[in-house]
This record gives sequence, C-alpha cells and structure tokens, in this order.
Amino acid sequence: MTQIFAHRGYSASYAENTLTAFKEAEKAGADGLELDVQLTKDGEIVVIHDEKVDRTTTGKGFVKDFLYKDLRKLNANKKNNKMEPIPALTEVFEWLCTNNLLCNIELKNGLIPYKGMEEKVIQLIHKYKLVDRIIISSFNHYSIVYSYSIAPEIETAPLFLEGIYMPWVYTKAIRAKGIHPKYSAMSDEIIIKTIENGIAVRPYTVNKEVDLQRLFNINCTALITDDPVKALKIRKQFEKRP
Ligand code: G3P
Ligand code: CA
Repeated sequence: MTQIFAHRGYSASYAENTLTAFKEAEKAGADGLELDVQLTKDGEIVVIHDEKVDRTTTGKGFVKDFLYKDLRKLNANKKNNKMEPIPALTEVFEWLCTNNLLCNIELKNGLIPYKGMEEKVIQLIHKYKLVDRIIISSFNHYSIVYSYSIAPEIETAPLFLEGIYMPWVYTKAIRAKGIHPKYSAMSDEIIIKTIENGIAVRPYTVNKEVDLQRLFNINCTALITDDPVKALKIRKQFEKRP
C-alpha cells in the first residue's frame, strides 16, 4: 500500500510547516510528514521552507540572521491571524514521540550551506530515538552523502527535479535507500523498475486526482501530498481491489 506523506504537514488546509499542520495530518490519518529545516544564527534547527521568513511569517529577513528567541516572536500562521511560532525541530520530535508517524526531513541547505546542519539534525534524531522513523532528504546530494557517512543507520533519499538515467544505480552508489523525484519526472516504468531494484520511490508534490491515482495504481512506495485527506480518500478505492 502506497504510504501518504503530508507535505509541510496538511498544508492544503493549514499553515505550512506548523505544529497545527502536522497534528492535523496525523488526525487525518497520514502515514508520515514531510518538513523543511533551516538553521538560525545561534544554531537552532527550525522548521521553515524558505531561507527567508518573509513569505510565511510576519517577519522579514533571512532565518540565518535571526537568533532563535527573536524568530519565535514571528507568526507562522499569519493567514489565520492566530499566533503560532515557527517550530523548532525539537518540538516536532517531542510530539513525534507521542505517535507512530514517519517523518521526512528535507535539509534546506542547497542555497545556504549551513555548517553543522547534518550533525545537529542527526544528533536530535538519536536523542529522540527516531532513527527508524526518519528519512533525510535534500536537493544537495553532497549533504545526503555526508549524512550517510556520519550516520549510516539513518535512511537518506536524494531529491530530484528532473529524471535521471537508471536512478537505482545512482541511488545505490550514494548508499541512499530511496529517491524523492518530482512526480512528473519519472515514468511508471522507471518507478516500477527502481522499486524492483530495492529503492523506495516517494514522488512529490502529488495533489491532482489523476496523479494520485496513477501512483496508487502502480503501488508506488509512497507519495508526498499537500492534501492527505484527498489522497486517503482516493487510496481507499485502490485498497478495495482484489
Ligand atoms: O520533499 C519534497 C518537496 O518538498 C521538495 O520541494 O520546494 O516543496 O521543498 P519543496
Ligand atoms: Ca520540502
């Protein structure tokens, strides 16, 4: 059965990358979450997609220029006019310890090469005993390889915007267990062949009914969607199949 990961939480209906969006994804019945991390000036791992706080919060500027205590004053739920801070990764982990969700952490270190990000994230994964429930992904494949080199026990998965030739060869070469492609970048045939070669495939960001159906139909490992409720409803139709 294809697992459903809630992209930035249940972001179709709640402010992305907030504890509310994560909790609502769990309530909806998602199998896992996808979230993005950046690093503050004083080295706190925080859950926010962009390098800057401008789009999703009431503040302005780069995450890397904020002290954590100042970043916490910003509202990450400004659309609903309800105060909700940018979560620290530790807060999300504390809550993850109360459930069984899987969690895909995307290291947002492609534009800003945050020094020590991998070590910090990995140290927290160990502290909260979440090794078996976390997948580290990134568009920065050097960071994926580095993460594996310091913590081979934690699953890694490179992100791709475009298709590559024989993705299972590359994925195995960098010792990753999975691949997270843009949903339109891999044909059914290549997804099936990659899975047959022992590599998990979790395409992002799958929101249209036709695309969700396509991936459930081929029994893709997982998919990453903004709308876990919609995805779960469609998956039900496939569960009834003989
Ligand atoms: O992890 C998949 C997806 O989240 C990558 O793109 O921009 O939504 O972080 P983006
Ligand atoms: Ca992401």
